[in-house]
Amino acid sequence: MMSSSDRSLERLIADWDGEALVSRHDRETDTWMFIGIHSTRLGPACGGTRLRVYPNPADAARDVLRLAEGMTLKCAAAGLPTGGGKAVLAVPALPVGETRRQVLLRYGRLIETLQGSYRTGPDMNTGAGDMDVLGEVTRYAFGRSPERGGSGSSAPDTAVGVWHGIRASCAHTFGTADLAGRSVLVQGAGGVGSALVELLVADGAKVLVADVATERVRHLERRYGIDPVDPAEVIGTACDVYAPCAIGAVLTATTISALRCAVVAGAANNQLGEPGDAERLRAAGILYAPDFVINSGGALHLIGTEMLGWDAATLAARLAGIGATLTEIYQHADDEGTTTEEAAEAIARARLSAAPPADPPSYRG
Ligand code: PHE
Repeated sequence: MMSSSDRSLERLIADWDGEALVSRHDRETDTWMFIGIHSTRLGPACGGTRLRVYPNPADAARDVLRLAEGMTLKCAAAGLPTGGGKAVLAVPALPVGETRRQVLLRYGRLIETLQGSYRTGPDMNTGAGDMDVLGEVTRYAFGRSPERGGSGSSAPDTAVGVWHGIRASCAHTFGTADLAGRSVLVQGAGGVGSALVELLVADGAKVLVADVATERVRHLERRYGIDPVDPAEVIGTACDVYAPCAIGAVLTATTISALRCAVVAGAANNQLGEPGDAERLRAAGILYAPDFVINSGGALHLIGTEMLGWDAATLAARLAGIGATLTEIYQHADDEGTTTEEAAEAIARARLSAAPPADPPSYRG
């Protein structure tokens, strides 16, 4: 079989149903910049900028095309008036200091040339400090630090959204949203994972945590008394809820057959290795919270507060809405005998086809 990295860039683009792939090679740092604009049907294409080392540029392009499509579904399912996009800076090594600043400035100028049809924010390996740098040269960077007029890190609100999602998933599976005594395995103790741990502990859940960065786990163990889990043991560890909050593609034929949980509900993007894995989860009797629904808290935080002018109460209500949307999706999937992924995509696609194409001038400002 041909490995996906063998697929040519032109084949990837031709097979994609998105609107545009903007690309630029930054000669100074040998960085490939790819901006995938998947859909502007509901509004400007929004999605974060991922900074990563890839085996080759085609792998980076494949990642950006897939992630941009995920953002279209995420924004539509969350009821946001925005479309989907994503950017990847495929670097030879994670840049630091002045080199990082300069590459970000060149990338920010590229964003600005798109006049708001693509709007970025933080993603893997990027944060508020990077958005501050972009903000020096473009108006279209969400998630700058509060001192620079931004709304700061979206990680805590992403965790709040996941927490609502876990409660809704437990209500569907166990008949109660109460998390007291429920065992939840959080994979990844980064910004989102550690904020989630705090919320779960406050509810009296029995929290297990795995992270390759062992000092993060030790810190959470000292602070909250969580149970550490060896990162290599995550999949076979018995728990009520498995919450992947780190890398994607954790759900595959191999891992699903080894899972010992009733619910998968976590923050990571692109959790399914391939589309058929949603059916594998269903057949295994495991309730899967579609990633692009349960992890939309970050998008609600960034787009809601910075583009739509939401106050704290509106944002809180919309984050709680993630739980309500999941309940609706689970009901739909049960009624129609489909996977939860299919039910979630159906909701998103219904919103996309109901809306008239966004008027280009609405991108501005
Ligand atoms: N990268 C985050 C996500 O995948 C947050 C984000 C949302 C960034 C929307 C920019 C715009 O949801």
